[in-house]
Amino acid sequence: MTGDDLPLLRTAVPGPVSRAWVDRLARHECPAITARRARRAVAIGAADTDPIVWDEAVGANVQDADGNVFVDLCSGFGVASVGHRHPAVVAAGQAQLARLPHAMGDAFPDVRRIELLERLTAATGMDRVIFGSSGSDAVEAALKTARVATGRGRILAFTGGYHGLAAAPLAAIGYHVRAFRDPFADMLGQHVDLAPWGGDLPALQPYAAVLVEPVQGRGGMREPPAGWLEGLHAAARAAGALVIHDEIYAGLGRTGTFLAGRALRPDLLCVGKALGGGFPISACLGTSAAMDAWGASTGEAIHTQTFLGNPVGCAMALAVLDVIEREGLVARAATEGAWFADALAGVPGVRAITGRGLMLGVHLDDSLGVTRRMLERGYIVLPCGERAEALGLTPPLTTSRAQLAGAVAALKECV
Ligand SMILES: Cc1ncc(COP(=O)(O)O)c(C=O)c1O
Repeated sequence: MTGDDLPLLRTAVPGPVSRAWVDRLARHECPAITARRARRAVAIGAADTDPIVWDEAVGANVQDADGNVFVDLCSGFGVASVGHRHPAVVAAGQAQLARLPHAMGDAFPDVRRIELLERLTAATGMDRVIFGSSGSDAVEAALKTARVATGRGRILAFTGGYHGLAAAPLAAIGYHVRAFRDPFADMLGQHVDLAPWGGDLPALQPYAAVLVEPVQGRGGMREPPAGWLEGLHAAARAAGALVIHDEIYAGLGRTGTFLAGRALRPDLLCVGKALGGGFPISACLGTSAAMDAWGASTGEAIHTQTFLGNPVGCAMALAVLDVIEREGLVARAATEGAWFADALAGVPGVRAITGRGLMLGVHLDDSLGVTRRMLERGYIVLPCGERAEALGLTPPLTTSRAQLAGAVAALKECV
């Protein structure tokens, strides 16, 4: 596959090869994962045709096991911001694999990791970093840091917020709370209060931190009302609580600015997803004031992991940051996102467009049915929002105008 501009459907979606893979998958994968996928397929009326099985990807295109080519309007959950299989990122990963695939994190670090620490802090205006392998890892590191830095344990988070499903972030999500959190409620800390997203703030208790996505992703690709985030910062400062920006989805250029929180400087900042260009790596960054509190711990490194700051992930992340800069992808997200939002808003049946840059929610009726029909036309989209009230569009920042225009034309047929 070389990266066709437009989807090229060679068979019905999906064909027999994909089907055979799905049957093998269902035999061995834990139902925690398979059951949800199967439920979604039934819900969208595509039990025989969903999922497609990915085999190869390049740029914004994905090819399934049957040879169908799709345009990925999700960037693989927001990961492929620089495009799938970007040559510079792949080359960096391959070179690092051939040289040093693993080091010893907090005991014996490697050079790529040190380079990435310098690069990430310079790019974000933060001072210190804790690496992780997933978004959940980064949020967990931020929550622990807030505890250590303030001596307090309560967290304020928001309805619709999604921060990952490992135990610490799970306790703080406000998205699909009943489905994600309730089954584990008695294993989770009761230290989180939820406030309405974009609404009035409660009197800020002695919170350790306020955990917020500057632009919400899974909760519906939505920005808070103008001035709300600034008010939140001011209230948190006044109450002595830290502010954690979860930019795992929105960060690194997606919203048309390098960080979705723009000029607002949080105490702690989480990035992940797009950072590794497909390699699982994340980071919790912080100000010295917040992070240096860890210095008080004695003996063991009290927050560490085997794969923390893996050299291949660091090499690929350095390449991703280069590509974002070299290819002007932040500005591209702003201009292409504005064009895309405008074109989508003109599709009959679309009620509203939310979000910013190339992080857009398309609000319409029957988003589940539209998701299926878009897939049949070669466009991979996911619903978003608590009631699946919108399509969430987060294509690679490199997606061509022809691909975006093709998606708009397909949507016209699907709504
Ligand atoms: C804003 C946000 N935070 C955290 C996470 C969790 O990341 P991960 O799934 O890598 O643990 C996600 C994942 O979708 C996310 O969108």
